[in-house]
Amino acid sequence: MDYLSQLFHQLPWPGFLVEQLPFSFRNLAIVLLATSSLTRPSTVSPPSELPYYGLSPPVYPSPPANGSSSPRWTLAHARARTAISHLTLAELTSLTHGHPGPCVGNTPAIPRLNLPALCFYDGPSGVRGQEFVSAFPAGIHVAATFDRALMRQYGRAIGAEFRGRGVNVALGPVAGPLGRVATGGRNWEGLGSDPYLAGIGMASVTRGVQDAGVVAGLKHWLLNEQEWRRRKDQGTPGEAVSSNAGDRALREVYVWPFMDALREGAGAVMCSYQRANHSYACQNSKLLNGVLKTELGFEGFVVSDWDGQMAGVASANAGLDLTMPGPGYWGDHLEQAVRNGSVSEERVADMAERILAAWYYLDQEKAYPLPALYDNLEKHLPVDVMDDHAQLIEEIGAAGTVLVKNVNGTLPFNKPRFLCMYGYDAIVKAVPWKNHDRYGGGYEVNFGWNTLNGTLITGGGSGSTTPPYVVSPFQALQERVAKDRGVLRWDFYSEDPETPYVNADSCLVFINAYAGESFDRTGLADEFSDRLVLNVAALCASTIVVIHSAGIRTVDAWIDHPNVTAVLFAGLPGQESGHSLASILYGDVNPSGRLPYTVARNESDYGPLLNGSVSFDYFPDSNFTEGLYIDYRAFDRADITPRFEFGFGLSYTTFSYTALSTFLVVSTALSEFPDPSIPITQGGHAQLWDIVGVVRCAVANTGDRAGTEIAQLYVGIPDGEGDDDTTPVRQLRGFSRAGPLAPGEALEVEFELTRRDLSVWDVVAQQWRLRKGEYPLWVGASSRDLRLQGSLVVE
Ligand code: BGC
Repeated sequence: MDYLSQLFHQLPWPGFLVEQLPFSFRNLAIVLLATSSLTRPSTVSPPSELPYYGLSPPVYPSPPANGSSSPRWTLAHARARTAISHLTLAELTSLTHGHPGPCVGNTPAIPRLNLPALCFYDGPSGVRGQEFVSAFPAGIHVAATFDRALMRQYGRAIGAEFRGRGVNVALGPVAGPLGRVATGGRNWEGLGSDPYLAGIGMASVTRGVQDAGVVAGLKHWLLNEQEWRRRKDQGTPGEAVSSNAGDRALREVYVWPFMDALREGAGAVMCSYQRANHSYACQNSKLLNGVLKTELGFEGFVVSDWDGQMAGVASANAGLDLTMPGPGYWGDHLEQAVRNGSVSEERVADMAERILAAWYYLDQEKAYPLPALYDNLEKHLPVDVMDDHAQLIEEIGAAGTVLVKNVNGTLPFNKPRFLCMYGYDAIVKAVPWKNHDRYGGGYEVNFGWNTLNGTLITGGGSGSTTPPYVVSPFQALQERVAKDRGVLRWDFYSEDPETPYVNADSCLVFINAYAGESFDRTGLADEFSDRLVLNVAALCASTIVVIHSAGIRTVDAWIDHPNVTAVLFAGLPGQESGHSLASILYGDVNPSGRLPYTVARNESDYGPLLNGSVSFDYFPDSNFTEGLYIDYRAFDRADITPRFEFGFGLSYTTFSYTALSTFLVVSTALSEFPDPSIPITQGGHAQLWDIVGVVRCAVANTGDRAGTEIAQLYVGIPDGEGDDDTTPVRQLRGFSRAGPLAPGEALEVEFELTRRDLSVWDVVAQQWRLRKGEYPLWVGASSRDLRLQGSLVVE
């Protein structure tokens, strides 16, 4: 028995004889052993990790990209192949890792072939850390607009700013985290907690960014759902947390939004820090070689999260193409690994080809601006890329603001003469921010912050922004009050403001809920802010609460107080914050934002999904045992009434829903599986996007103000025999902006259902399977305000 076989006989699986192991699994073991020579020495001797790999099946070899997805990809790959045919092995390997340069990540230039260094830069809400760049709303705010057109314009404007500064690869958009864990520290960077909504967001933003000529770097692939122990040795010695998800949840929840962005041609994907099913995401052959590069036909390149590469040979063979920001475990070692046969030369050529193909795909070889990224201590001429983006930022800021309570017609204001303002969140801080390139703070300072002492327009860490200025709520309301020749009183410091102003029309109280990269939140509310709201409400008969929050914020401490007459979830709106808010308060814009997550009555209602898993084991686990049941799906299953459900938001007018009709597009019987003879193109099997069903209804404005309704379609997928889990009673499968509608005006709304929308991931067939049977469906104003019910029968 050879050494490997002996090793396998020591594993704890009964009867797991090495002779029966698939060849590729043995390769994995060889890879593991081989990489030990490339891994950094550890001070603590860890328990063996070999047994843990059983949860993540080996998929080798890494499939080379060939550009077959579209003529554009074919051309891009052909050009890339020509370019790399002139490169030496040393040049090839140098392309696969980061080098010093002006950007957050830089590839090397190869001047003799006119290949420039490629510039990688954060982040999902715009260029960070620079002067004369805009601070766009965060992803979660954009998701709350439920507006495809705005999502796309957002991507386009962000893309234009990246391009203007010579950034080749923008590090965003984000669908990992998706928001599985209510207190997740980075949920605000992503596009909401529902895969369908996040998928539309990912596709639209990707399209916008790439239309501007910039490669979109989708992140973080995959199952990056908590910050606690996202990396090795965080807090205590040991490996990063392992997100352990089943095959169905993997596809139907976490991969889903990435599929949409890939289908739009995304050129790069960033693998995440943590382990996924026990194997580090940047060396997880199942997720990279298997799901991304085979099932989803990815044509571009996989870049590691910064310092996220955990081994040399293992990551190369598992499908990582580029390690950032330095040489990582590759550098000269990769050449050595090719020479000693641990990594094939084809694999390294494929890495380089994929990187250059993304560059050619976006035509960046044609007159692309040079990087213009500077430290704040560097003297340079301004490189102004802001254009008129402030206007779009204000529009998205307003469109993503969600009105959740409005009694006695408190809002919109009707020419108020006298307003009061309270709370630390109404103003900008006296000193801008310590970390010059992150308004919301960096990774170092945010542990334990519940709130930002100043108005919150973004979260902290690499997804943060550097606003050119911040229009605070105070500034915007001063402007309005001054114009109306009114009176304003304020107190931004006291927890218990003392002076009542009995003549005031309304009191506004501003609070926030902060989150940032590297840390999960400590809770979903803070007592200071809750007391502040109650104290203001005790003084003022019409108290309007405005919450800027980096995710869910519970409100039950005061929501039913009779003096709390209006409440707005104002999200993370970016630099025009005050203007966006004022346009809602004064009714210039009728609110149509909808919650992209569920706000519970009590934190405990989130059950095990309130906090990420915290264990100090050497190999900590986070088991996604809830499967498909995150956010509203979990509340529906457990029959827990949320305070404000997913998709909820009020308007200043009312809408009716009538005349539901449904039909199948195809008359012949539909096959259960997509046609296996059709090759995969980037994003997945093309037939998954075939329209198979259509749902229509009429939406009418029944109130007395013009307004836009977000009509939402929820679908129940029938369970099938042999399912390893049930399917949620309802899942979002469509949304449409109806409007703006004048009072009395009606509009027909149409939702198209694709094959994927009606399919489940069949774990045995390893395919998306269209179920036969009756699909109940509902159209309504939220995940619980369901106005019309019908069904679709698939035979
Ligand atoms: C973050 C990424 C980011 C990268 C570069 C990492 O810590 O997880 O999202 O793009 O840093 O700043």
